Amino acid sequence: MRALRISCLVLALPAYLQAARILAIFPSPGPSQYISVEPYLKGLAGRGHQVTSVNAFPQMKPVANFRDVFLSELSDNYNELINELKEPTNTWEENTYINKLFVVVTRSVLENKEVAETLLPPGKDQFDLIIVEALRSDAYYGFAVHFNAPIIGFSTFGTDWNIDELVGNVSPLSYTPLLSTGFTDRMTFQKRVSNFIDTMIAWLNYILVHMPEHVQMYEKHFPEAAKRVKLTDLNRNFSLVLLNQHFSLSFPRPNVPNMIEVGGLHISHKPSPLPKDLEEFIQGSGEQGVIYFSLGPNVLSKELPVKRRDLILKTFASLPQRVLWKFEDDNLPGKPANVFIRKWFPQQDILAHPKVKLFITHGGLLSTIESIHHGKPVLGLPFFNGALANVNRATQAGYGLGLNHKTMSQREFKETIERLLQEPRFAQTARQMSERYRDQPMSPLATAIWWTEYVLRHKGAHHMRVAVQDSGFFAYYDLEFIGVATWMSLESLDDLELLEPKFLGYRSIMVVG
Ligand SMILES: *[C@@H]1O[C@H](CO)[C@@H](O)[C@H](O)[C@H]1NC(C)=O
Repeated sequence: MRALRISCLVLALPAYLQAARILAIFPSPGPSQYISVEPYLKGLAGRGHQVTSVNAFPQMKPVANFRDVFLSELSDNYNELINELKEPTNTWEENTYINKLFVVVTRSVLENKEVAETLLPPGKDQFDLIIVEALRSDAYYGFAVHFNAPIIGFSTFGTDWNIDELVGNVSPLSYTPLLSTGFTDRMTFQKRVSNFIDTMIAWLNYILVHMPEHVQMYEKHFPEAAKRVKLTDLNRNFSLVLLNQHFSLSFPRPNVPNMIEVGGLHISHKPSPLPKDLEEFIQGSGEQGVIYFSLGPNVLSKELPVKRRDLILKTFASLPQRVLWKFEDDNLPGKPANVFIRKWFPQQDILAHPKVKLFITHGGLLSTIESIHHGKPVLGLPFFNGALANVNRATQAGYGLGLNHKTMSQREFKETIERLLQEPRFAQTARQMSERYRDQPMSPLATAIWWTEYVLRHKGAHHMRVAVQDSGFFAYYDLEFIGVATWMSLESLDDLELLEPKFLGYRSIMVVG
């Protein structure tokens, strides 16, 4: 099916666009980020472009026009660091911790043998376009200067101030929460204060801890480029940013012209038939239907504390529904007859099945998008802060509920499942969300490919960049204006000479602000 879709895309390739050489860098140590971008990279290869993809999940079978540069040491480096680092105790440490992880990821790319031997030596290879995972990995953006090619960022989680800055997008803190807070766009006063403080801490940490390390790596691995372009200028020179988000999935917000929402481009639109035993088990559920339970590719159910696992098992045993549980072991002691375990499920095909009534999920972004696409209500058991935001949004939108997996009781778990299955509004809202999400002029995948080729056709499409990208830091944040306004309010207010219309305007904005 995918092959058919890709060949349709190939036929639509405008004749005047020549095949481009594309370097893609997606060094995520967990599989889900790469899953969200793989169809896009293969789609570009399917259109005749030569794609070189630096990643940790190489293709099992060869794909035409597609070369993997395998980051074999990435997960080892990453896990080693995770084990070494102490749990952060405050927001500053939490940021330092996250920044360290991204330094390790970036270093794994730049010090990889194949990268060092084939991509970094000057004049060895040439590319027309660089596509990077935009996630605090500034040093490897240096490939854009190195190859003198336009750069596109792909953000696998959507956006926040950090991604916004790449294209000069505005992020009003009053309704764009930092992902790590777990808040939605509707924040109480306290939450807004907390979002503001957390964002300032993240921003200071980025400037003081993160950037110096990346500047060092950039100067070390791209010495020629570093002489020509400063890293801080480079990371305001993005041609395009693609976001794995959509207003129908999260919330509406302003976007500059070169920031494009392509949330859920990994979804294949035609579900495949399920394996026979699975289909039979689902069909055997009768009127009651099936609950699908998976904690995603990164969180393992088999590693849940035994007490938690027993609580979940007892709850499932007491339900009239049948349950599919993604469990990564062959045996699940005490497994009741209405529970079916598998190490891996074809999740999208299961969610597409009409007999599947509820998705109990860890709340990761891909699972959230898939449940919306297929119109299924969710019970979220978030394991990390980004997931908490998704679960809170599901609750706010009315197609799901959330529980704390560490503290929930068996009764709470069962009652929440029953509510989600019995109150029709959850299923209705889920269907409505699905209709809104699917109602787009082009599929997210076609959108991503179209804009990528737009950048190629218009040699970087710099006419889309907003002017603030070329002004300094102080102008970006209007700091000089805030300075003037603060000075004005401190200085004698009765100094009439200063009461020119321009300054008065500043002052009244300050008062309103
Ligand atoms: C910005 O990117 C364009 C290519 O898209 C390039 O010509 C220009 O030199 C870059 N400028 C900086 C400061 O990196």
